[in-house]
Amino acid sequence: MIEVLLREWDGETAVIRYDRPTEAWIIIAIHSTRLGPAAGGTRMRHYPEAESALQDALRLAAGMTLKFATSGMPFGGGKAVIAVPPGITQKSRLALLRRYGALIHQLGGLYYTGPDLGTSSADMDIIAETGAPYVFSRTPATGGAGSSGPYTALGVFTGIQIACEHLWQDRALDGRRVLVQGTGSVGAALIDHLRLAGAEVLFSEVEDSAIRHFRDELGFEFVASEAVYTTECDVFAPCALGGVLNASTIPHLKCQAVVGGANNLLAAQGDAERLYANGILYTPDYVVNVGGALAVTGLETQDWTQERAAAEVVQTVQRSLSQVFDLAEKESITTAAAAYH
Ligand code: PHE
Repeated sequence: MIEVLLREWDGETAVIRYDRPTEAWIIIAIHSTRLGPAAGGTRMRHYPEAESALQDALRLAAGMTLKFATSGMPFGGGKAVIAVPPGITQKSRLALLRRYGALIHQLGGLYYTGPDLGTSSADMDIIAETGAPYVFSRTPATGGAGSSGPYTALGVFTGIQIACEHLWQDRALDGRRVLVQGTGSVGAALIDHLRLAGAEVLFSEVEDSAIRHFRDELGFEFVASEAVYTTECDVFAPCALGGVLNASTIPHLKCQAVVGGANNLLAAQGDAERLYANGILYTPDYVVNVGGALAVTGLETQDWTQERAAAEVVQTVQRSLSQVFDLAEKESITTAAAAYH
């Protein structure tokens, strides 16, 4: 199956290492270096088998190529997946991150990493001990740009405004019902923007402590996992895992638009047509979630100030999403096809 996955992938290189001490798989997928060295975050989680980790890495790396092309930054697309066994101890996790950093260093600049699902800026500090200078998003204390989540959230928020303007000629979010799936570093920051803009925020989450925080302490309406794809809302904002827009969920969606922070929202190519046929406006994931990658690379390679980074995120999402909507309308194609063009 690995042969099939690699043969059918249109990327350049995959580096695979079995980390014997932890029994983890380290996969670095270099999708494209056409626009510059490959860059993309490190995803760390448990997978049922190594093959699904490879599949995830290959797809995510391809998404990063499109994301950096959208951003205008001179980077190509890559992604790393570290598939860890369940219940890995903190001590062996840190040792694993250091060995992973050494591997990145050996690649000599072919691949730059940053945080993604399951890794943080503090983890980037650890990876950078052996992997510097090929590590983005270290903590500010060690000279890095810190978490990319808030910038990704700012871009997604901007995408929601542009989508509302497109649908209702009004970008104000006052009273709009927005369902945010996932309250991680992107979802939580997005909820904050939405609340300040006067939106009616609903959220979905699987972790008990986060549910208690957002529902009981902050007072947001909680939507159970089984109801996420059937709940009525103006905008659905998936900020957790990919593949949530698929043949079984799309027919049930009762939203007008999907604007999400997660990568690879569409399970398959045909899902863009499915959304289109159901009258749901889809904002391509890599167009609206470009903020983190754009801001962090700008802050760390172009000497941007935080103000400049925020302004670039807003302008980039605004400009590219408007272009996508215009082209899709003019050519009568899906927004996914328009973004790809
Ligand atoms: N992991 C994030 C993404 O998918 C952000 C990121 C990428 C941050 C590359 C820094 C460098 O876009």
